[in-house]
Amino acid sequence: MNAAFYDAAMWPIEKLFMHELRRRLVSTARGRVLEIGIGTGANLPYYPSDVELTAIDPDEGFLARARRRAHAVGRPITLIAARAEALPFPDCSFDTVVATLVFCTVEDSRQALREVHRVLKPNGQFKLIEHVRVRNIVGAKAQDLLTPLWRHIANNCHLNRDTLKIVQANGFQIESVREHLRGLVIEVEARPGQ
Ligand SMILES: C[S@@+](CC[C@H](N)C(=O)[O-])C[C@H]1O[C@@H](n2cnc3c(N)ncnc32)[C@H](O)[C@@H]1O
Repeated sequence: MNAAFYDAAMWPIEKLFMHELRRRLVSTARGRVLEIGIGTGANLPYYPSDVELTAIDPDEGFLARARRRAHAVGRPITLIAARAEALPFPDCSFDTVVATLVFCTVEDSRQALREVHRVLKPNGQFKLIEHVRVRNIVGAKAQDLLTPLWRHIANNCHLNRDTLKIVQANGFQIESVREHLRGLVIEVEARPGQ
């Protein structure tokens, strides 16, 4: 979705429930934090004041909006144009990695997860909110049917990605999962496996 319309399009969803999910997920971030695919910076108001925040996004339009929001909420942040599949950071750089509504969109989610694993410290935390493939077979089929069209409308967003399964299969231990809207939206806390 174009950065210029993102906040307006998300407004009803934010009001209904997303702001609360963001608050819960992000308020327990600690230490050196990397946010992947920061978008317009919707999570920025909810980080604890003592974290050291870095964020990436490949889209300059989103980065410009995130920069403005960081300024508006008085949040120091380092913003870098980069993709999750090639994170420009040394190994073991971060205590926390956050991604919200991003792994539906990244081109190569397995490579992106390898990168998250690499830049996280061994005792680091990986925190996600994603919309995912539902377990209900009729719903999942509908997601399969709609995804080709939706990818064109919404910048490669896949409605039918089983992100929890992909996270588990790519070296992370799942610590907790909260499901919303009958499993359509999940909040996940994970740690890098050894
Ligand atoms: C649906 S928006 C979510 C934005 C924000 N995280 C939020 O919660 O509102 C998806 C974001 O992922 C970014 N993105 C797309 N491909 C990416 C990639 N390969 N690596 C990192 N970010 C990516 C987009 O530019 C966009 O900002």
